[in-house]
Amino acid sequence: MNVIKLENATKQFGNVVAMDGINLTVEEGKVHGFIGPNGAGKTTTIRVMLGILKPDKGHSTILNMDSWKDAVKIHKSISYVPGDVSLWPNLGGGEVVDFFANLKGGIDEEKKRELYEKFNLDPSKKCRTYSKGNRQKVALVAALASNADIYIFDEPTSGLDPLMESVFQEYVEQLKKANKTVFLSSHILSEVEKLCDVISIIKDGQIVESGTLDELRYLTGIEITLQTAKPIPELANQEGVTDLRVSENAINHYRFMLDTSHYSDLIKYIGAYEVIRLESAPPKLEDLFIRHYEK
Ligand SMILES: Nc1ncnc2c1ncn2[C@@H]1O[C@H](COP(=O)(O)OP(=O)(O)O)[C@@H](O)[C@H]1O
Ligand SMILES: [Mg+2]
Repeated sequence: MNVIKLENATKQFGNVVAMDGINLTVEEGKVHGFIGPNGAGKTTTIRVMLGILKPDKGHSTILNMDSWKDAVKIHKSISYVPGDVSLWPNLGGGEVVDFFANLKGGIDEEKKRELYEKFNLDPSKKCRTYSKGNRQKVALVAALASNADIYIFDEPTSGLDPLMESVFQEYVEQLKKANKTVFLSSHILSEVEKLCDVISIIKDGQIVESGTLDELRYLTGIEITLQTAKPIPELANQEGVTDLRVSENAINHYRFMLDTSHYSDLIKYIGAYEVIRLESAPPKLEDLFIRHYEK
């Protein structure tokens, strides 16, 4: 069943087309990653989904209800963490969590305490004293401790350090096990590829790709920089090797993408050519875009 569905949703701000005919479906029980560089239209899309913004054209439904017209009803089933969390400066963090919890008809108190501890958040402090990361934690605790069908997170880990990021991921795994639907936006692919069943990629307000991780396997490859003493004539034909570029300036200097399932085979293969230098790194989203979508 599709719990979120956008059809030809379009939204323009002045001359900027933030959403340019977006078609997107999110299936029940899936963790759906929404990836795109800054300014791609992720936040706008999420606001249209939630009925915070009205699309100029097309429409959005959640649980078969119209996002705009039925926003109040829809919000009962949703936990949402916005990208830029603003809180009431004079309330304590804990008061804000409880306020949101009451709107949603209560909270799991035990889970709430556990979340404070895991996220290392002091709920007694006034919100005005919180850093961006701590404000984000308040919103995360409120969202994760309440019982919803759909969880929507807009770049939830952008202000968090890596340790807290892994705490967040742990809780998303729990939601996944509980068969909840999760929609998770990010501009960092490696951050979400561990969690997501399905990934949609947005660029300039358009969905340029959507599929399971297996279908988008090339996105999760690694980038290899290699220099050898002997030339490797058949490198381009090795399994898992794509986007091979041979440097014109250096001798036997290669850069390519490698599907990590062929990692050991490739290492064995290149050994015969006397490796001088070997580097591997996850590709940057920007590089992937340049390679695949700007042709
Ligand atoms: N309220 C707004 N008024 C004017 N322009 C906006 C507004 N919200 C977003 N935009 C513009 O729309 C584009 C998409 O923005 P946004 O959805 O925030 O992208 P993302 O969340 O992927 O970074 C950007 O060019 C942004 O500047
Ligand atoms: Mg955004």
